Formats: sequence, structure tokens, C-alpha cells
Amino acid sequence: MRHLMSPLDFSVEELNELLDLANDIEANPQKYANACTGKKLATLFFEPSTRTRLSHEAAMLNLGGSVLGFSSADSSSASKGETVSDTARMVSCYADIIAMRHPKEGAPMVASRYSSVPIINAGDGGHQHPTQTLTDLLTIRSIGGRLDNLTIGLCGDLKFGRTVHSLIHALVRYNNIKFVLISPEELRLPGYIRKDVLDKGNVPYEEVERLEDAIPKLDVLYMTRVQKERFFNEEDYIRMKDFYILDAKKMELAPENMMVLHPLPRVNEIAVEVDDDPRAAYFKQAQYGVYVRMALILTLLGIQVS
Ligand code: NCD
Repeated sequence: MRHLMSPLDFSVEELNELLDLANDIEANPQKYANACTGKKLATLFFEPSTRTRLSHEAAMLNLGGSVLGFSSADSSSASKGETVSDTARMVSCYADIIAMRHPKEGAPMVASRYSSVPIINAGDGGHQHPTQTLTDLLTIRSIGGRLDNLTIGLCGDLKFGRTVHSLIHALVRYNNIKFVLISPEELRLPGYIRKDVLDKGNVPYEEVERLEDAIPKLDVLYMTRVQKERFFNEEDYIRMKDFYILDAKKMELAPENMMVLHPLPRVNEIAVEVDDDPRAAYFKQAQYGVYVRMALILTLLGIQVS
């Protein structure tokens, strides 16, 4: 049995197969419409979510399966003191696969030790968010045609942003990848990723504070929200929250083919006027999230559609 805790749980070859499957699902949805008939997905969300929970559910429904679950810790027995391990043991009696989001780093990993069905980490604290990374890879590959030879700007809250952490882990395995890390000093990428992943792997990167300085050289600009819920005090959040605002004027500095991604939800970091720019790919990205989660569910359940 296989779980998905980190994007590194799949080899590059397996990832490419998964992305191929997602593209086939996009092109031939009918072919997959009954692939999971009789199967159930449980979504256990101990933290707020719109896209991740609903796209997992839409993915299972598109495959002909059904869904059950809860969308906040308050409405589950966690509020009575039940442990994650007991919850996982119970729910694996009710469902064939589980997607779990939790504010504590490592909680889905604990759950995977007690579950008798595959567990998908749908975001654990400030740590990892592997299904968002699958979504990001599918978007970059489908729109840009490649995952090699890319300069990627990661902008915003690189300290707490789990989507950034997972994406870096995944992308360093491709050829000729360069990162431009765009953040204020206080929200820099954590040392354990800078040193253990980038430095150790000799991956070229630079750290800059001004978005304007970075934009002209990028193939992909990945914007992120300042992660309010991970701050220890509100003052710091208020000081940081509008540090970056991507607007039409800044987009004038961007290459013609640069794509703008954002895992969403956006707050103020991308002005609404950018939505009409053909380089804005974040809503398309959310759509790709459904195809890739369909491919992931099929893969983890070992279901092949011919
Ligand atoms: C992200 C997350 O939950 O980490 N959202 C998502 O799943 N698309 C990003 C965020 O909340 O800022």
C-alpha cells in the first residue's frame, strides 16, 4: 500500500507517468467516468480549505466514486480529544482512501501508520503540500511544455508557505532549474531547505527582496499568500501582508511567456487587474488540480483504465 506524504514519494519517472495520466483524463474524461464506482474517499480536514478539499471530492465524484468526511476539527471527535491515529484507524474502516489536512506538521504521516488504506497529505502545517505540487507541475508542464530548463521565482511567504517547500523539493530533480527566492528578510526560505536541498544539491538560486528586480528573468512567477495563521502575533502579519502586490505595471516588466501561478487563496498579493493578462494561469491551475488528483486517486488505488 502506498501513501502520499511528500512529492519525493514518487520518482521522477512515476511523476511523469502521473502527469501523463492527468493529461489523458483532461482529454478523455468519459473514459474514466466509472473507474472508481463503489469506492469511497474520506476527506478529513482539521484546517480550512476550499480548493484542496473540494477538488479531491470532485476528483472522486468524476471517477464515479463517492465521498464522505468533515471540514473542520470542531465538527469531528478531535474536539473531544480523539487522537489522529485513532481517527485514521476508524476512517479506514469507512473509506478506501483518505485525504487529510492538519495544522500539525507530520500528522498525516502518523495517520498513515495506523490506516489500512492509502493516506494523502493534503497539507500539514508549514511543512508540505504534495498534491498542490502535483497540480503546479502539471500546470507548468501543460502550459509551458517542459519541467527542465526553468527559472522560477517564488515570491512572498517562503518561510511558512508549505506549497513552496514541496515545490522546491520536487523541482530540484529536473535539469537546469534555477530559483529566484523573493521575500522580505523575515519570511526567507527556512535554512533547512536552503542548505539541505538547494546548497547540498548545488542548485543555483538567488535571494532578492524586490519583485521588480526578479520579474524580467523568470519563466514562472509563483506568488504566495502571507500565511496569517502561522504568525505568532498579529502586528507582524499586518506589517508583512501587503509587502508584495503584483499589478499590471509590474507585469509590464515580465517576459512575454512568463506564467503567473498562485496556489490560491489570494488576498492582496495579485491585483484583480492581472486576472485578464494571458500570462495569469492561477485559475487554470486550480482546474488542473482536479485532473491531477483524479490521476493520483487511480494510482494510489492501483486502478488501471484501458
Ligand atoms: C495553500 C495551502 O493550503 O497551503 N492553499 C491551497 O491548498 N491551494 C496555500 C495557502 O493557503 O496560502
